[in-house]
Amino acid sequence: MRIAEWIQATIAPPIVDIYALARQYDRPGQPLINMGQGIPDMMPPAPCLAALADRLADPALHRYGPDQGLPELREALAADYRRRLGVRLDPEREIIITAGANHGFVLALLALVQPGERVVLGAPYYFNHLMALQLLGMTGVEWPLTVRGDRFVLDLDGLAPRLAAGAAGVVCVNPNNPTGAVFGAEDMSGVMAACVRRGVPLFYDEVYSLIAFGEEPAGHPYAFAGGREHTIILGSFSKLFGLTGWRVGYIIAPPPVVEQMMKAQDTTVICAPVAGQALAAECLRRCPDYPAAYCRELGRRVRRLSAAVCDIPALTWREPAGALFTMLPYRHPEPSRQLAARLVREAGVMVIPGAAFGASGEGHLRISFGSSDEATIAEAGRRLARFFTEDRNRSDRNRTAAPGAGGRQAEDLGVGGAPGDADPC
Ligand SMILES: Cc1ncc(COP(=O)(O)O)c(C=O)c1O
Repeated sequence: MRIAEWIQATIAPPIVDIYALARQYDRPGQPLINMGQGIPDMMPPAPCLAALADRLADPALHRYGPDQGLPELREALAADYRRRLGVRLDPEREIIITAGANHGFVLALLALVQPGERVVLGAPYYFNHLMALQLLGMTGVEWPLTVRGDRFVLDLDGLAPRLAAGAAGVVCVNPNNPTGAVFGAEDMSGVMAACVRRGVPLFYDEVYSLIAFGEEPAGHPYAFAGGREHTIILGSFSKLFGLTGWRVGYIIAPPPVVEQMMKAQDTTVICAPVAGQALAAECLRRCPDYPAAYCRELGRRVRRLSAAVCDIPALTWREPAGALFTMLPYRHPEPSRQLAARLVREAGVMVIPGAAFGASGEGHLRISFGSSDEATIAEAGRRLARFFTEDRNRSDRNRTAAPGAGGRQAEDLGVGGAPGDADPC
């Protein structure tokens, strides 16, 4: 059977690869520490689960629902937007409930980008965004973040030339996966202005919208001139309420775009899982501030991780302000895929190689603190410290044994932080 070219040219899902490797790790007494995938470890709020349980005998929960999503969820989302951002949405014309934000991105691309066109991806990018583009015969153009102090920031000067070269849209994830950066109002106004000037859509992924623990809130595109007309919001309940398995997200877009996207919605899923939609509506109505408590816990984990990393000279700290991740440059000669595989096998710690997030991710490791408590993070820190120390000692011994041979240092290879990067450790 012939396999279509576009799917063959699409990259393989990196998480699947790293899980396959993790399954081979088997050391009694030392379980693998999973700091790979971005899964929050909290349960959905208990009162909302109880409310859902009370509704399970309702036949409507087990049948197709309206294509666009349950009205109660669209209305709850509109009410949440009004409360938090002062934005009035029309739940009838501006919102579609999707089977998660990944599904939403595919609908958005089908509606707004033609096969063969290019889309700018803030990079390191979320790999499923690149995969969606590739599957649809489109191309991703990397727009690398830059580093200020110990944080990743947007490089606004780098955006205009990429748009001028004919890109059909821009993808921005805020708070950011994989770096944990949060882009504030000043940055987002620059991105929005660039999109409005070129008349192209901003695909704004706000999957981690309420998961922020830094001082500066994320800048929302609707706050800027032309933002509402030029933005497709891609959101999700996965990370905010611990609902990753229910597959419920949303799109907010201008009505004419929503109208067209409904063709793709009906063809791909008909409607998002109905019981999951009911649970998401319960969460928004009953426990809108639930993510805030989880953020306080995440803040403690970040401090624990930062202390552990500061004791490891091979790693450079990057301060996350949101999402579930930090992305650390390393000083080590191996490419990130090789290094991450060895960390699973030899240290029992699973992280995601930076190369999975594009060329600008190479030389980094993405570490998730979404599903490891403080004690587990401390243990992961000890294992990483041991690994890098032993590795360093081994290469020192090899260099002494064979001067001039195999003694090339990580620093020589230029991987890791850019020259002049401030490392607060
Ligand atoms: C940036 C980003 N967008 C989208 C998704 C997928 O979200 P959902 O579960 O709603 O499909 C993820 C999941 O990790 C993500 O990190």
